[in-house]
Amino acid sequence: MKLLTVIGARPQFIKAATVSRVIKSRDDITEILVHTGQHYDANMSDIFFDEMQIPRPDHHLGIGGGTHGAMTGRQLEAIEQVLLDEKPDCVLVYGDTNSTLAGALAAVKLHVPVAHVEAGLRSFNRRMPEEINRILTDHASDLLFAPTKTAMRNLAKEGIPTDRTHLVGDVMYDACLFYSDRARKPEWFDTLGVEPLDFVLATVHRAENTDNPTRLAGILRGLAGAKRPVIFPVHPRTRQKIDALALAEQLGLHLVPPVGYLEMIWLEQNCAVVATDSGGVQKEAYFHGKPCVTLRDETEWVELVEAGVNVLAGTDAESVASALAIHGSPRGTADLFGDGQSASAIVSRLMALQSRPQ
Ligand code: UD1
Ligand code: UDP
Repeated sequence: MKLLTVIGARPQFIKAATVSRVIKSRDDITEILVHTGQHYDANMSDIFFDEMQIPRPDHHLGIGGGTHGAMTGRQLEAIEQVLLDEKPDCVLVYGDTNSTLAGALAAVKLHVPVAHVEAGLRSFNRRMPEEINRILTDHASDLLFAPTKTAMRNLAKEGIPTDRTHLVGDVMYDACLFYSDRARKPEWFDTLGVEPLDFVLATVHRAENTDNPTRLAGILRGLAGAKRPVIFPVHPRTRQKIDALALAEQLGLHLVPPVGYLEMIWLEQNCAVVATDSGGVQKEAYFHGKPCVTLRDETEWVELVEAGVNVLAGTDAESVASALAIHGSPRGTADLFGDGQSASAIVSRLMALQSRPQ
């Protein structure tokens, strides 16, 4: 089988690393990797390919930045041309970014089967660009790989035929298991004067938070109100908005550039508590046995809230600060995200697609 994978943003490199490794171990499937260029800074892209041994992209489209319509449209056109040239048997997309939607749309219009990893997640907030990307991608897909039972239920409710949907667990759990003992302490950590197990690890990048000065200021003040130091690897879009507010430095937060995955998992393993609006980081907090304060009003990962390991704090400074007063590490006992073999399950299903009558 000739599989063509479309990726473009940081979490997709991490997810694809696990599936690409399984593909490399087999001789009945080859992978063509297309990087849209949505994320392009070295610490948002190259570092993951280097340290996670992801194969170099076969096609780099160099399409990042701009408005949603412009980015998605340019990616759609460029991916279509790659598909016409490569003629794959299937296109694989991950998550909920503009690159995900562009890949799915380009393929379905050319009648190339689409497989979607992380299908069925819903925030039920249609103002989130990710929610639109997910819904459209799921409905364009032939094979939908759901990470959780909730995701399976969401797909069933939307009338997606059950023979297309497969509960496979979460590839980010596979990644966590594979890379955990390769975790690396950031070089700058010892210069901060922060003790391991006594800091808040924060990340923020959702448009609804970065592009709303009231929400962003609430988050920054809430973090500053925590009783522990805060280490905050700052996503480039957030950096621009924080600089405009000119608030963070005076609040005493430790702002650092984005880190690679190996350093990120060290920080997750060694923090006291995570504060984030990231989807992936909410799950990784759970994988590493850390409580998570989610800086949003809703989450797609409802299991974590139900299990009591994740608190939805919103962005009000007081509620963020009081949620961060958490003590201990409430490790949920339930196996919420599969058995760490999601990538193998996905590749097996992809191979079955080939033998299916069209
Ligand atoms: C995107 C995804 C989001 C995902 C996130 C992962 C969409 C709609 N959003 O959000 O779902 O959670 O990636 O991190 O697809 N920038 C740089 N350098 C980079 C990348 C981005 O400077 O390497 C800046 C640019 O100003 C860019 C802005 O960040 O315009 C936003 O980047 P974009 O990829 O549009 O959205 P993200 O917020 O990264
Ligand atoms: N991540 C990273 N370095 C950072 C911040 C995050 O390697 O500085 C990793 C994190 O460990 C997780 C993934 O990026 O695996 C999450 O991506 P992000 O938060 O950008 O997007 P989301 O998951 O919200 O789509």
